[in-house]
Amino acid sequence: MCSRRKADLMIEQGLVEVNGKIAELGSTIDEKKDIVKVEGKQISLPLSHVYIKLFKPKGYVCSAKDEKGRKTIYQLVDAGRRLFSVGRLDYDTEGLILLTDDGEFASKIAHPSGGIEKEYHVAVVGAMKESEFAVLRKGVVFENQRMPSARVKPISFDGKITKLSVIIDEGQNRQVRRMFEAIGREIKLLKRVRIGSVKLGGLKRGEFRALRSDELESLLRLI
Ligand code: URA
Repeated sequence: MCSRRKADLMIEQGLVEVNGKIAELGSTIDEKKDIVKVEGKQISLPLSHVYIKLFKPKGYVCSAKDEKGRKTIYQLVDAGRRLFSVGRLDYDTEGLILLTDDGEFASKIAHPSGGIEKEYHVAVVGAMKESEFAVLRKGVVFENQRMPSARVKPISFDGKITKLSVIIDEGQNRQVRRMFEAIGREIKLLKRVRIGSVKLGGLKRGEFRALRSDELESLLRLI
């Protein structure tokens, strides 16, 4: 209901009661059992968490503040409570990002060891060789480190640009860009289209909506 600082002030002013007694700074509560009143009114934790999917456009950072003053995804989403992103997308990457106030869910989905598939569409200039696919699938070596293997398949080639689907289980920093850098390919467009069972779907750039219950349930099943 307020910031930590404001809460401290209210406790010091004697406005907060726990089980009928004036609370003191530093005392702890069991939120399942204890009754907390502020100015005589009982308060409770929000009943449920918020889970949102957003089509992050290029040109936005996923941090709450940016030292370079760039736009952040939190300027696009106003859910009336503090949210954080489930993993991050680079400034130049667009596509699906999940936002929530459920920390446990976020770390399970985003953690590299979680094994949740992330699918990207990648556009590169020119035709890709079969040998390049093979290297990406096996796991490229980048700066003396073998990158995890990826499921990579072509989607289209229009004579100039090859569009590919790249599926990775881990989410290391700039993983897809580093994979393509390692084979000497410049990425023209990088877009995340799926996280686990949740697809970007019909969202437009900058649009967001709450996950449907079937989307949330299928993700919860994966973790
Ligand atoms: N891989 C990248 O290189 N960048 C992203 O934003 C996501 C995955």
